[in-house]
Amino acid sequence: MTKKEAAKRIAQLRKTINYYSYQYHVLDKLDISAAAWDSLKHELKQLEDAFPDLITPDSPTRRVSGQPLDKFIKVSHKERMLSLEDAFSPEETAAWQERIQKLVSASAKSAASNPRDKLDYFAELKIDGFAISLVYKDGLFAVGSTRGDGRTGEDVTQNLKTIESIPLKLEIRNGWPNDNIKKKVEALVKKGEIEIRGEVYMTKSAFKKVNREREKEGRPLYANPRNTAAGGIRQLDPKIAADRQLNFLAYDIVSDLGQKTHREKHQIARALGFKTDIGGYCRNLDEVIAFWERVEKKREKIPFQIDGLVVQVNSDNLFKKLGVVGKTPRGAIAFKFRPAETTTVVEDIIVQVGRTGALTPVAKLRPVKIGGVVVTRATLHNEDEIKRLDVRIGDTVLIQRAGDVIPDIVGAIKKMRTGKEKKFVMPKNCPICGGQVVRSEGEAVHRCVNKKCAVIQKRQINHFASRKAFDIDGLGPKIVAQLMNEGMISKSSDIFTLQEGDLIPLERFDQKSAKNLINAVKESRRITLSKFIYALGIRHVGEETAINLANYFSRLEKIKKAKLDDLLKVKDTGEIVAKSVREWFNDKSNQKLLADLVENGVEIEKQKTVKRKLAGKTFVLTGQLEEFTRDQVKDRIRRLGGDVSSSVSPETDFVVAGAEPGSKYDRAKKLGVKIIGEKEFKEMTR
Ligand code: IVH
Repeated sequence: MTKKEAAKRIAQLRKTINYYSYQYHVLDKLDISAAAWDSLKHELKQLEDAFPDLITPDSPTRRVSGQPLDKFIKVSHKERMLSLEDAFSPEETAAWQERIQKLVSASAKSAASNPRDKLDYFAELKIDGFAISLVYKDGLFAVGSTRGDGRTGEDVTQNLKTIESIPLKLEIRNGWPNDNIKKKVEALVKKGEIEIRGEVYMTKSAFKKVNREREKEGRPLYANPRNTAAGGIRQLDPKIAADRQLNFLAYDIVSDLGQKTHREKHQIARALGFKTDIGGYCRNLDEVIAFWERVEKKREKIPFQIDGLVVQVNSDNLFKKLGVVGKTPRGAIAFKFRPAETTTVVEDIIVQVGRTGALTPVAKLRPVKIGGVVVTRATLHNEDEIKRLDVRIGDTVLIQRAGDVIPDIVGAIKKMRTGKEKKFVMPKNCPICGGQVVRSEGEAVHRCVNKKCAVIQKRQINHFASRKAFDIDGLGPKIVAQLMNEGMISKSSDIFTLQEGDLIPLERFDQKSAKNLINAVKESRRITLSKFIYALGIRHVGEETAINLANYFSRLEKIKKAKLDDLLKVKDTGEIVAKSVREWFNDKSNQKLLADLVENGVEIEKQKTVKRKLAGKTFVLTGQLEEFTRDQVKDRIRRLGGDVSSSVSPETDFVVAGAEPGSKYDRAKKLGVKIIGEKEFKEMTR
């Protein structure tokens, strides 16, 4: 991307993010998903990282989010309520560790370093809720407040009192990290102040229940648990908060109670009667990543919404020493799960012709990672669906991968439009055969009226991938039919555009088989000229003719240009074959296919001109060979200019006999034809 392009995209992203930001932080509503919004912010951050001189002080990436509303009393926080930097992959988390490791070793060289400050972590669930600070005076819940802008929040004590998991009075229970801490806390509970922070949230089941009731009452439904929880807390009437059945999980202790690690903070919070966030101590980053993988897998089963882990250095001392940049502490990070939703750009909308002649519009996407795999296309199903979604070429779209199904375009982000987007029009002619395209009454799909079109195409692709042609392992007729049905391929050249991420969601595929097929496709790309010609499926051009053509012309360019007379000079090529070849190469759609194949990375090896030392010799094969397959033997003979015949006659020069030869062997003996074994054959064709 050029700087100019980046500047344009950045401006568009900022405008869109600011719009949603106001909705989210000030009005507590969001009409795109949090994941889509995150994804836009992430893109902006990455562009700004790549072009730092495009950063402006008013960019949403520089903003301290949230503003207190006037309707509540303001509370200033003793210690700032910070937010977290995001990491979206194990690699980004490793980069974070590297950054802090550098700082740790730099300070170790300079001055007093604590050898216990090794990098171990505490990782816990990142709850999709609302950050809250709770201050207890003399053991009694005194003031509860929202984060606000981090320094000043709103007093929402009355509402928080409706939450049963927030103790109104601190109790000294069991499970203290040590006696010193216990004593200190006991003293502060009698006289003094303790501040605890955590997340107010709504369980998935409470959210459903509340929405069911609203549905019964005919009132509009809430969008998601997070906003419903936040909305409940920021209402002047505590009854509303109570109705929403909110919950609280503690994850931080601000007061100095003698704790040395984050783990101890959790123990203390539990010993004081709080529910604590689910998490655990990790000896190193590998353990963090393993925990992240485990949680992501069972994410759906967790009773509340989470969007990742919060990971922080376990040592409290080190956490403090690492300090704060802007509004985020260096010692902690939000390790987000791979989003099941993300945004990308529709680069084009192409039309694929399925096995039954149905035309499926498919969006070609700017490659994007979703659920851990790269995706480059999404089906748009049919014309009506495109109209419903109002997706245009050039649009920024939200795509979603629910479970293990094919990614779907959820909709266009219209705020991102520049006016240059193009509407899609269904072609009037079939992109494969040029046949007429019709949409029958009452049907959603357009079809190519040429009944043979799709059948021919399918046969063609099968032939193309077969053993004697491109020899693509794993791309048999069943898979070809499936890929055609899904709109993934409709002509041979499409095979080379497939990506792992496009296959994984399909039935019959998993990560491993998708990878295998993509590898097989990659490996098949280099091909000899003769096999390439054979693969094209030109009428009357079988394996043998393809070899003869390749031997004679040695380059595809020459065959493309060959006149009928030239073609007639090729061994065993008569009028019919020559005409068929000429016609094939004259056809516009075939020329396009050749161009696409080259563009998609097919490389034709120059046909080796070998000494044709078997020219004029005819071979017959019989019995089982040890080292070669029959096809390999035939290939060798033909490459050296010989012929293979299926029956023995006085014209036969050699019979190659393996184990348990059949009647051909006896006949050769009778006719006095020379019989050779595998070894001799090898010598002869070396
Ligand atoms: S620790 C230094 N732990 O995520 C900030 N935050 O992006 C300390 N959150 O404002 C936050 N679960 O609302 C922490 N287990 C958890 C969390 C958590 C959710 C939220 C919290 C915070 C935001 C930071």
